[in-house]
Amino acid sequence: MYYTVEKGVRKQMEHLVITGQKQLSGEVFISGAKNAVVAIIPAAIMAKGKCVIENLPYIEDVRSLVDTLTNIGAVCEFTGDNSLIIDSSNIEKYCATYESVKKIRASYYLMGAFLGRFKKAEVAMPGGCNFGTRPIDQHLRGFKALGAEYTIQHGVVKLSAEKLTGSHIYLDMPSVGATINIMLAASMAEGVTLIENAAKEPHIVDTANFLNMLGAKIKGAGTDVIKITGVSELHGAEYMIIPDQIEAGTYMIAAAMAGGDVTVRNIIPKHMDPLSAKLQEIGCMLYEGDDSIRVVSTGNLLPTTVKTMAYPGFPTDLQPQMTALLCAANGTSILTENVWENRFQYINELKRLGGNITVEGRVAVVEGVRQLMGAEVNATDLRAGAALVIAGLAAKGTTTIGNVKYIDRGYEKIEHKLRAIGADVKRVGEKNIG
Ligand code: UD1
Repeated sequence: MYYTVEKGVRKQMEHLVITGQKQLSGEVFISGAKNAVVAIIPAAIMAKGKCVIENLPYIEDVRSLVDTLTNIGAVCEFTGDNSLIIDSSNIEKYCATYESVKKIRASYYLMGAFLGRFKKAEVAMPGGCNFGTRPIDQHLRGFKALGAEYTIQHGVVKLSAEKLTGSHIYLDMPSVGATINIMLAASMAEGVTLIENAAKEPHIVDTANFLNMLGAKIKGAGTDVIKITGVSELHGAEYMIIPDQIEAGTYMIAAAMAGGDVTVRNIIPKHMDPLSAKLQEIGCMLYEGDDSIRVVSTGNLLPTTVKTMAYPGFPTDLQPQMTALLCAANGTSILTENVWENRFQYINELKRLGGNITVEGRVAVVEGVRQLMGAEVNATDLRAGAALVIAGLAAKGTTTIGNVKYIDRGYEKIEHKLRAIGADVKRVGEKNIG
């Protein structure tokens, strides 16, 4: 397993090897939010001047976006202390090819940013995690309302506008991507834009705060009506990204799973409310500090029901990790996925580890098992990978997880952070073996 053959040489792909059943204890420091930074880096395209982005997570999605910005002429520099300087003053291109965007779903934000700055954009349809159809009709409808025409040919979205004019847009559903994308373009439109039924996720507020630091005029981010008064130019600024709610949640669930006593630090506890409530319901003890939550678990877990919903509901991006956790509960749990139509592909992998789960449409029924058992599995996407790591931490014996590239898209130094709290996790691979 996990081999590729290149020029007759067998290469062992990178994978994580976990020896389970180690109790976790200690502190984990949470990185900056992936879903904020993947919007904020494209937003920096609209600024004439230097943007300094702090609390930057060193994850693959960031590297991919920085490569894309460098390709179009932005000057980007990682400064080594979790910060990134982007100077987009002299960029002239407004194109991103499939090659540069195929790995990352959030490359759709390049559309809004190019459109805002150049009134034109040519961006290949986004790649990224595959959990069913991922349409961008609401993004395009928003751009059209601002005055842009678009065509989609050979997988490339081409947008252009004589000028962008503020408009009143009611989203069919509170789409995170559409809300941010429209906010980006509308920041540099003439007049006022209202986005109604807007998404309210913390990274929407963070992106709006960043844009406002650049000179944009955005009010209401975090509520379902956002008002954007367009400006003609944006300038550079320094900005610190918020902590990653999903990374924090992943480590909280890991602590619950491994019968541990773990404090996640550098977080905004309020963002964790939907998960904290569930963890308490299933028998964990939580202690909240100003920027931390301590999770204490005996490993003796009760079953529950979980329904994913837009913020402030239970995040879909923690659904796979929660399913893994509930495999170890004493009884039957029911998880309903309300955001994505097909986000249960990873369940076959959890079953390899002994999970007893049945899926019917958008509902997964999880029968808790006495003991998960280590096995060879593959991450099918970013959060699916996190779920397998969590299951591996509790499983008896060794779990080997392939396709680590998915996990690296969104988790900075996952094996280091887990080892620091007592897990036995190694990264093995990319070596020639004959
Ligand atoms: C963002 C997150 C992703 C998370 C998701 C839901 C980023 C980079 N990614 O993805 O991790 O799982 O929010 O919290 O922030 N939809 C449409 N038409 C559209 C747009 C969306 O029908 O034009 C539908 C989608 O199919 C989905 C729902 O709306 O069923 C929510 O999608 P959306 O909030 O847009 O997700 P993303 O922004 O892609």
